[in-house]
Amino acid sequence: MPHPMLDVIEKKKFGGSLSDDEIHASVAGYTSGDIPDYQMAALLMAIFIQGMSYGETLALTKTMAESGDSYSFPDSVDKHSTGGVGDKISLTSLPIVAACGAPVAKLSGRGLGITGGTIDKLEAIPGFSVDLSEERFRKQVEAVGMAITEAGELAPADKAIYALRDTTGTVDSLPLIGSSIVSKKAATGAGHLLYDVKCGSGAFMKTPEDARKLADLLVRLSEDLGVRSSAFITDMDNPLGRAIGNALEVREGVEFLKGENVPDDLAHMARRVAVRLLELKGISDPEKLVERAISSGAAYEKLEGFVSAQGGDVKKLPALEVSGETHEIKAPASGHVSRFDALGLGRATLALGAGREKKGDPLDFGAGIEVFAAVGEKVEAGETVAVLYGSRNIERAKKLTEDSLEVSDEPTDVPPAILGSL
Ligand code: URA
Repeated sequence: MPHPMLDVIEKKKFGGSLSDDEIHASVAGYTSGDIPDYQMAALLMAIFIQGMSYGETLALTKTMAESGDSYSFPDSVDKHSTGGVGDKISLTSLPIVAACGAPVAKLSGRGLGITGGTIDKLEAIPGFSVDLSEERFRKQVEAVGMAITEAGELAPADKAIYALRDTTGTVDSLPLIGSSIVSKKAATGAGHLLYDVKCGSGAFMKTPEDARKLADLLVRLSEDLGVRSSAFITDMDNPLGRAIGNALEVREGVEFLKGENVPDDLAHMARRVAVRLLELKGISDPEKLVERAISSGAAYEKLEGFVSAQGGDVKKLPALEVSGETHEIKAPASGHVSRFDALGLGRATLALGAGREKKGDPLDFGAGIEVFAAVGEKVEAGETVAVLYGSRNIERAKKLTEDSLEVSDEPTDVPPAILGSL
């Protein structure tokens, strides 16, 4: 082997810069099984500690993107959220843009830690499947205008490396996160991409500075791989909308697309994301198109078409089943809601079974939380501020939810949903 792995590890350990060949040989060797877990784990930890230059990060992204199948959908759009609590923006904004004539070829993931995943949410719809061959995915993008797949054979190097990172304390490294996300997106092949980089207690990135660094990196890597890209940095100190949990979130997304009343933050974000995706595609008058797609019912029809093409039972969509077991949480005092912490609510939802506490845990699709007190609103002592759905770990979930609520005597400003963009 031209670049023995030990030399590569030693070089990065002392802060050296790896060549494109060294990066390629390490990734290809690990993916083929020639390089063992322990050597790749040592390299990942060296990268975590010493970092990577932009050039190294781009080489890593390219080699992971080229490690398996790659699709090409230059006319299509995709969006990616770095993961939040109650985030149903893909379920809402993408049927809108598809109804406005921008085809959606999307790669989605499952929940990770406290953050929900679009695939888990969609699988709350009876019959829905993301197991699509390339041919079926392509035909659906052409015929329906919207399809969602999971990574499968796309960027298999990322899949192998991510699993190792997850068990070696090397997830939260900027070059490793950036290359992981962009390699999968580049392999899926949509020509236009919007990143929603979440920032706050319920997100990977806790501060606006870190969120901006990740947003910059995602956009730069994507553009250098030929994908027209843009990013929003959005608040994740508080959950998005009212519903958290798989079936509950699909229900709230359906309510929005049917023109029913949903919280302002959700309605605002879904529209802004849809408009930005249409702008990236160069479609003129995007605001007007987005409003028309919602008010005419075209966006909801697009959701139905997409769900039905992937095997989902559309008749169940308007009233997806949720857990019949519910528990109300009451406000402890009267005042103004200053925080309903996304991290605590995410943990409570995970405890209820909406996410996986351990790899392979079965999900309870009907489990979750509805919050009825948003930041800035007034509550009275004893008023219901949240309803828990589900039967797992109830006492833990109740305590986590109660501890997430802060009520203040003073009025609180509502934070903007979108903190920045690029
Ligand atoms: N999501 C990914 O796909 N990769 C990461 O490294 C982190 C979040």
